[in-house]
Amino acid sequence: MKKRVFSGIQPTGDIHIGNYLGAIQHWAASQSEFDNIFCVVDLHAITVPQEPAVLKVKTREVAGLLFAAGIDPEQSVIFVQSHIEAHAELTWILNCFTPMGWMRRMTQFKEKSLKQKAEVSVGLFDYPVLMAADILLYNTDAVPVGEDQKQHVELTRDVAQRFNAIYGETFRVPAVVIPEVGARIMGLEDPTQKMSKSESSGQTIYLLDSPDDIRAKFMRATTDSLREVRFDEARPGICNLLVIYELFTGLGRTDIEARFERKGYADLKRELTEVVVAGLGPLQARYRELTADPSHIDSLLAEGAAKIRPVAEKTLALVKERVGLG
Ligand code: TYM
Repeated sequence: MKKRVFSGIQPTGDIHIGNYLGAIQHWAASQSEFDNIFCVVDLHAITVPQEPAVLKVKTREVAGLLFAAGIDPEQSVIFVQSHIEAHAELTWILNCFTPMGWMRRMTQFKEKSLKQKAEVSVGLFDYPVLMAADILLYNTDAVPVGEDQKQHVELTRDVAQRFNAIYGETFRVPAVVIPEVGARIMGLEDPTQKMSKSESSGQTIYLLDSPDDIRAKFMRATTDSLREVRFDEARPGICNLLVIYELFTGLGRTDIEARFERKGYADLKRELTEVVVAGLGPLQARYRELTADPSHIDSLLAEGAAKIRPVAEKTLALVKERVGLG
């Protein structure tokens, strides 16, 4: 029996190379080893205001990008969260077993709510419990995510263990899997902030950026006043560019430093542009092919949901039985 992998991505903003290097690339690379489920989390997206028509377009776009990045519908399921009602229903039940104190510790909520102030919804606060429901519905063994989602997966483990302690073995307790390199790709203009969908476009290389955009953004990327091209965490700008170079080329750090021994930052930026443009080219071409007929993505998503709905319903039925509902 293969181990079950579950992970998710929000259909908000544009998908960027942080999402790709921290998560999507790993999902695609290891899919033959596991039994995989990847979810486009539109219920999470509405925890902050969304334009309805845009949300629909983005949901399909993100799914298209996952397929284009090499996730194969023969080996992995991709589905849309709101297509399976059990996610919302299990969230309610788990809410009743999740202490407020645990939720108040969630750093992502603290950061997001600072930005949103009075607009903050109950949904945004509850976001990690919806994530726990996503993961626990499918008897997940491993959750591959970037660094920023680690705390949420740890909360999921705590919620599962607490429920199991009260009602007996019900949920499988998942492990969080964080890549050794690339778990936190930083922004280009401000390399002390993580690259994120909600930041300005100069901070972020999007998967669908044109070669000209990619070049312009790397050339403007913030570095420092030193000269040596080295993996040095004390120099976040140059270190981040080198990590991106490392992940797109697959070269070792010593080889990379040797390659730039007598070269400067401008050379690194030029070569980095070349490898990223070449790396994203095939993905962009596949994306254009796949989306030429939007109904194709819709039917893959419908098939995905149909395939795994019984797993979610079985878990939910067991949970309701345990709790005494129905
Ligand atoms: P989301 O949509 O913000 O991001 C999708 C994935 O990309 C990773 N990521 C990054 N990795 C490296 N560097 C970055 N700068 C960077 N930015 C984002 C994220 O860690 C994530 O793995 N709450 C989740 C979606 C979700 C989920 C789930 C994930 C919902 N339910 C269940 C796992 C399991 C989110 O908003 O990801």
